[in-house]
Amino acid sequence: MSNAPLRILGIETSCDETSAAIVEGGRTILSNAIASQIDLHAKYGGVFPEMASRMHVEAIYPIVTAAMSEAHVGWGDIDAIAVTRGPGLVGSLLVGLNAAKGIAIGRGLPLVGVNHLEGHVYSLWLVEDAPEVAFPVIVLIVSGGHTELLLMTGHGQYQSLGRTLDDAAGEAFDKVGRLLGLPFPGGPSIEKAAQDGDPTAYAFPRAWLDQTWDFSFSGVKTAVLKEVKKQWPGMKAGVDAVPPGLPVPNLAASFQAAVIDVLAEKTAQAAAQLNATEVFIAGGVSANIPLRTELARRAKVPVRYPPLVLCTDNAAMIATAGHYRYLAGQRDGLEIDVKPNWKLT
Ligand SMILES: Nc1ncnc2c1ncn2[C@@H]1O[C@H](COP(=O)(O)OP(=O)(O)OP(=O)(O)O)[C@@H](O)[C@H]1O
Ligand SMILES: [Mg+2]
Repeated sequence: MSNAPLRILGIETSCDETSAAIVEGGRTILSNAIASQIDLHAKYGGVFPEMASRMHVEAIYPIVTAAMSEAHVGWGDIDAIAVTRGPGLVGSLLVGLNAAKGIAIGRGLPLVGVNHLEGHVYSLWLVEDAPEVAFPVIVLIVSGGHTELLLMTGHGQYQSLGRTLDDAAGEAFDKVGRLLGLPFPGGPSIEKAAQDGDPTAYAFPRAWLDQTWDFSFSGVKTAVLKEVKKQWPGMKAGVDAVPPGLPVPNLAASFQAAVIDVLAEKTAQAAAQLNATEVFIAGGVSANIPLRTELARRAKVPVRYPPLVLCTDNAAMIATAGHYRYLAGQRDGLEIDVKPNWKLT
């Protein structure tokens, strides 16, 4: 057996990004090709599942080929294929998993199925020049479909502390963005609009859910809706154009402040109580700069977050999670199926 670092081909198609990546040694990205469908879905204000799987079918082989050529590797240089099995959209997941199985048979390579949320966690291993991870760490996953607070005690070992009881943080950003007539996805649009707003303009509610590490974002979302209706009595559901004069920056900034307050405070408290060495944040919402700043201000331990391109869905994080699963001996057979509702814990 050679001592060359492992090279893993990662494949990710759980939602609306078709991505393939080659990661070496679990840390070095040789390539990370991503075909995003965001412009297509923006027209509908959300991801259209049937269209997403059709686009994955068209994109998957060009993207795998692009990842291989950008990394300047041939099939003989690849040690295993890591692929997202779930959670995600069933039709989208099927495209990636079947492509991975086809390559595994054709090239005689081992197959490793990966949980998409574990992929988000392992985006933190791709932070350049970061120190080795000393467990336990607190992990906050904040994405379009999930908000989970975890204690990670070793590779692949998680204790669930809490999760959202209703909307995911990213989902709340997307819904409020739509309500305020901002472009999809709402997260980055709200962050941008909030730069010109006053975060104290409206005292939107914070759901502390004391004595638990759980979250809830439906109350703050409804409070924004009520405020918009109050200021805009003629508002009709599903109409995206907001009237001139509606204080969108103040509404955006006050909403964002309410969400960040709860996320940052509970995560910082969990880190202190459970003696974590570091706080990790991952998932699309971890791209939010005010969230990063607030978490760093409140936590008593260092906060690690992914580079911006690795916050949202990508295959490099799947390859890295697969690297550690492969080292732990995981090898999957061709009978594995997608798991659209797969929980991490
Ligand atoms: N700067 C930002 N501020 C707040 N939210 C953001 C920002 N950038 C992206 N988001 C949000 O991140 C979400 C997308 O993240 P991601 O791609 O990780 O989610 P997903 O893959 O759809 O969901 P999951 O990972 O739970 O399956 C969207 O809800 C988007 O609004
Ligand atoms: Mg995701």
